[in-house]
Amino acid sequence: MVIDIEGVDFAYGAGKQSVPVLKDINLTIKEGQITAIIGQTGSGKSTLVQQLNALLKPSKGQVVIGAHKISKNTKEKYLAPIRSAVGMVFQFPESQLFAATVLEDVMYGPKNFGASEEEAKKAAVQALKQVGFDDRLIDQSPFNLSGGQMRRVALAGVLAMNPDTMVFDEPAAGLDPQGQAELLALLKDLREAGKTIVLISHQMEQVLALADQVIVMKAGQVEANETTAELFARPKDWFADQHLDLPETIAFQKELAKAGFTFDHLAKTIEDLADQLKGQLDLAKLSKEEVSAHE
Ligand SMILES: Nc1ncnc2c1ncn2[C@@H]1O[C@H](COP(=O)(O)OP(=O)(O)OP(=O)(O)O)[C@@H](O)[C@H]1O
Ligand SMILES: [Mg+2]
Repeated sequence: MVIDIEGVDFAYGAGKQSVPVLKDINLTIKEGQITAIIGQTGSGKSTLVQQLNALLKPSKGQVVIGAHKISKNTKEKYLAPIRSAVGMVFQFPESQLFAATVLEDVMYGPKNFGASEEEAKKAAVQALKQVGFDDRLIDQSPFNLSGGQMRRVALAGVLAMNPDTMVFDEPAAGLDPQGQAELLALLKDLREAGKTIVLISHQMEQVLALADQVIVMKAGQVEANETTAELFARPKDWFADQHLDLPETIAFQKELAKAGFTFDHLAKTIEDLADQLKGQLDLAKLSKEEVSAHE
């Protein structure tokens, strides 16, 4: 299912209280890919993704989600199919949890969209397993959990509904390194399974490792929308201007390029960088010998 954002403006509040945030957004979220959304804090990333399942409706323009068109005046009653097609894991997962127990919380989505008690339980148990949730805790209140476990429950709640598109707003925040690695693996698995994924992230290493396409937001507008390779080929200064980091591997590759090394593609990993350097190191040694010959 393709999602098209066409000429969208968005403001929080109305009249004098109105706070304009998004300005003239035109984007297509490609099917079966991982699209990362990056940009400085306050640039409108969370506001943008909430347009993707009509949690927020555009003030101007429209969002086309499969066969559904959402504009300012679209009525709430038309939104249910969109909510089941586009699942959202919010930036602060605790805001998403509400039930008395973890299991009930995760079962809520499937039940709400017509699954029987038994089907919902099966989907919930499977989703909790998929996110690596400790199954001894499923009868606990979700509010007694650690931040990392809460995040897993919120994730499972969305997975259990099996939506076509999944949106993750800073999913790795609050997870330890192992939790982050597991999350990365889960997102890769979901893409393998044919899901469309939208990922807001401040971690450029994660964007490099996962994303096919990257959208850069700046002050409520789209500053860049291109492939991950195109993005990281931009000069170092551009990243500094955007207040974005460069992944270490890429920063190192750029420095090496300045020093005269040549690369035929962007190094996604340290191993890849080492491979591309191989034949060239002999050259470096040669020129060093040349230098010492002149000394
Ligand atoms: N409910 C709201 N009411 C009024 N203004 C809001 C509301 N939510 C966000 N904003 C404002 O909209 C702008 C964009 O916020 P948003 O949360 O979308 O940014 P973000 O890119 O997700 O930032 P972060 O990286 O910090 O999560 C900010 O200026 C913010 O203050
Ligand atoms: Mg945000």
